[in-house]
Amino acid sequence: MSKEINEMLQGTATIVAPSNKPNTKKLFLESYGCAMNFSDSEVVASILKKEGYTTTRDFEEADVILVNTCSIRDKAEQTVRQRLHIFKKQKKNKPGLIIGVLGCMAERLKDTLLEQEKLVDLVVGPDAYRDLPNLLENVEGGQRAVNVLLSREETYADISPVRLSQNGVTAFISITRGCDNMCSFCVVPFTRGRERSRNPLYIVAEARELVENGYKEVTLLGQNVDSYRWNNSKKGEIENPEIPTTSFAELLEMVAKVSPELRVRFSTSHPKDMTDEVLYMMAKYKNICDYIHLPIQSGSNAMLKKMNRNHTVEWYLERIARIQEIIPNCGISTDIIAGFCDETEEDHLDTMRLFEQVKFNLAYMYYYSERPKTLAERKFEDNIPLDIKKKRLSEIVAIHRQNALEQNQKTIGKTYEVLVEGEPKKNKDQYSGRTSENFYAVFPKEGLTKGTYINVKIVDCSSATLIAEVIQ
Ligand code: SAH
Ligand code: SF4
Ligand code: F3S
Repeated sequence: MSKEINEMLQGTATIVAPSNKPNTKKLFLESYGCAMNFSDSEVVASILKKEGYTTTRDFEEADVILVNTCSIRDKAEQTVRQRLHIFKKQKKNKPGLIIGVLGCMAERLKDTLLEQEKLVDLVVGPDAYRDLPNLLENVEGGQRAVNVLLSREETYADISPVRLSQNGVTAFISITRGCDNMCSFCVVPFTRGRERSRNPLYIVAEARELVENGYKEVTLLGQNVDSYRWNNSKKGEIENPEIPTTSFAELLEMVAKVSPELRVRFSTSHPKDMTDEVLYMMAKYKNICDYIHLPIQSGSNAMLKKMNRNHTVEWYLERIARIQEIIPNCGISTDIIAGFCDETEEDHLDTMRLFEQVKFNLAYMYYYSERPKTLAERKFEDNIPLDIKKKRLSEIVAIHRQNALEQNQKTIGKTYEVLVEGEPKKNKDQYSGRTSENFYAVFPKEGLTKGTYINVKIVDCSSATLIAEVIQ
């Protein structure tokens, strides 16, 4: 998973769409949560650009503020709420200002945000963005506006997103929406609805457009990319008579063939569904990156069962072994939840043992946060005290950091090809980029151009970053 996705998973990414259409109304758009939300904001920017909205980086200048929200953990919701309070204050200075909530908090909090707390004027769920122009008009007419209907069909397949990523090198393409898995801890099936796949022809067209505009990397996005399946008989869609159905492996190949200069990544893989066919496809194409994000959530079979993940630890380890066999040196990352309902010290030690066994290059680690409507909220007691959750999490973080450092140290002295992506936040004299395996490297900027591939030699590292020298 890229640093960019990581940042978005952790919290915020302020995004601004460039627009060249003259208009009087200015839009400020901010995204929280996962890469899918970020990608959706690009769809929203595209829909509103057609209406003539221009965008601004400064919310004090905006006529419309839209916040694309995340519900995955309580903390994510609290962060958004704090932002909404800041925006509401701005309304005192600018009474005509419209404030709207998009995304995953929409369905759950529509009444609270609109009616009780009167924090916003507009609430729009993830499948209703085409209705935004209409809803904005209603708000201008003095009404509050809501559309949180989830759809079984909407994939925004035909909408060409306005690219909001700042670097002009890497971009996201959504390939599925929603999720049918019903992991017992997870709110996503409730906020985003049923899983649907997007027409591969539009996905490939979007990749081509990105290449034409100088982009060098795409990440295909879905909650469970392995369950991507397109059936050509869908009504009202452009048909591809040559291919009746498309699997995820086939889609990967179609995108990889767009250009050998275009790196292809994807996220998220599900251990229960990840096939060897996908692994062989990765091995076949150099431009499909050697990196898999494969969340396990817990190293204990009892917890995995309770989480409704539909696989065991043994199954997961077998998948890891297959990855290493078919794609030697493949970068592997994971997600973990500490302190799920009824988790014993022994369950926790199982997770610690798993981390000793599989030395992940990257891990996104959280403690359990109970979410409304989920199976866990209805059936199980959130019975692990917060201090224990935090203690277990910090133990997992410590072992992971040590492992990641060891893995990174092994790269010292080796050479890698990296794609030059942009400046790291802390040092403007450097550029950063990633290896195919998703190692994040920084190197001196001099003489380099963003969006090119270069060879580097690793000279030093921390647990998160490789320090590299450019090889001429
Ligand atoms: N579709 C992906 C995950 C999407 S959510 C998958 O199946 O792996 C991203 C991560 O947030 C999850 O992998 C999980 O580790 C974490 N997460 C989800 N719900 C959570 C909750 N209620 N409490 C804590 N972490 C949670
Ligand atoms: Fe949530 Fe599970 Fe779906 Fe991932 S696969 S989005 S964790 S329900
Ligand atoms: Fe993503 Fe958060 Fe929704 S992680 S799918 S924005 S709940």
